[in-house]
Amino acid sequence: MAIKKISTKGAKSLIVDLTSTNDRVAIYLDEKSVKALNDKCTHRGGPLHLCYRDSNNIRRCPWHDRPNPSDRYSSEVALIYYPKDETIILVAPNQHDEPWPVKVCI
Ligand code: FES
Repeated sequence: MAIKKISTKGAKSLIVDLTSTNDRVAIYLDEKSVKALNDKCTHRGGPLHLCYRDSNNIRRCPWHDRPNPSDRYSSEVALIYYPKDETIILVAPNQHDEPWPVKVCI
């Protein structure tokens, strides 16, 4: 199990790479809620945080343009969000390797 404290100062989203399980989690923050979604498309693992909307306002995966990739909550991490401290505590039960790289997207 790995536990990591992450500062979220100014961030609306974070991308977390889980190296030992080859998973990626997108964490979305706002003042009232936080959610951790699996960031890999079910087709071939495209980065769902980079989805775009086409001219018909349909959400599409950036790798192969498949429509409407579904949001799935991550089963790889649990998290606790402290909005006043702008901090997240991430817990990854299946994470064993260090380092645990975290990419922050604002
Ligand atoms: S990886 Fe998403 S459509 Fe292929």
